[in-house]
Amino acid sequence: MRLNNKVALVTGGARGIGFAISKALAREGARIVIADLNVDGAKVSAAMLENASREHLGLKVDVADQGSVTELLDEIAQQCGGLDILINNAGIGGNTPFLEIKLEDWQRMISINLTGAFIVAQAVARQMVNQRRGGKIINIASLSGQRGGNGRAAYGAAKAGLELLTKVMAVELAQHKINVNNIAPGAIETEMAKTAHDPATRKAYEYLIPMSRYGLPEEIADAAVFLSSDESRYVHGHTLNVDGGFREAGLMFGPDKAPPR
Ligand SMILES: NC(=O)c1ccc[n+]([C@@H]2O[C@H](COP(=O)([O-])OP(=O)(O)OC[C@H]3O[C@@H](n4cnc5c(N)ncnc54)[C@H](O)[C@@H]3O)[C@@H](O)[C@H]2O)c1
Repeated sequence: MRLNNKVALVTGGARGIGFAISKALAREGARIVIADLNVDGAKVSAAMLENASREHLGLKVDVADQGSVTELLDEIAQQCGGLDILINNAGIGGNTPFLEIKLEDWQRMISINLTGAFIVAQAVARQMVNQRRGGKIINIASLSGQRGGNGRAAYGAAKAGLELLTKVMAVELAQHKINVNNIAPGAIETEMAKTAHDPATRKAYEYLIPMSRYGLPEEIADAAVFLSSDESRYVHGHTLNVDGGFREAGLMFGPDKAPPR
């Protein structure tokens, strides 16, 4: 119970990685607010969390809309009296060749995955500063923000921006005892990956990942528990890649490691 008496906001927690993180933080004793565009999903998922006499909440938010984020934080202040942990996770996938990206699709991606993450992080950090008891902010970026993957121009640019934003937040918020880090998942088995990764993409990933498999949402959740807990108090401004070795791999060959055809 490393997170007893903590309140954690998980954006995009109705399903996938956000839901797995919500379950793991609840198991550690935190009270969870799942906030999602899909409010019905958020409520159903919040009701499924382990409950040690704390009521978890499922609320509506559109992270790209500052008014919606303000309403969410007002509601959390009223119902929970404050916030200790933010998992800044809501996002959309996307896979379009650079030459074919339409401006409106580029702008939608940036407005949710980068501007939306900024809007939520800033609003939560302001609240944490006012509370004067510090806090933990964990942004969920992506390996696509570190490597030039096919079709990832808009998605990768947004996630690279989020990784840099994490560093600046860490520098500026340390004085308020707000600990800021970033998790960069590799290829993780979720609905998003199922829609964004065609069979060729899947084959390429399985070759390029030394562990030869997609990760599980629970494997991201374990990293999020560490970064939410006091055990990570001197880890700051860091990007923790959880990717089966995808980022660091060099030449790989052998009987089970042939390039995909
Ligand atoms: N699955 C992967 O392979 C992978 C890899 C790297 C990074 N990520 C990142 O992890 C995060 C979660 O991904 P996932 O695979 O669980 O995705 P998912 O599509 O399964 O879940 C995303 C959730 O975010 C919500 N959401 C979308 N837009 C929103 C908005 N504007 N406001 C509020 N909620 C919104 C959706 O309703 C959904 O519940 C995303 O930021 C994604 O970019 C995923």
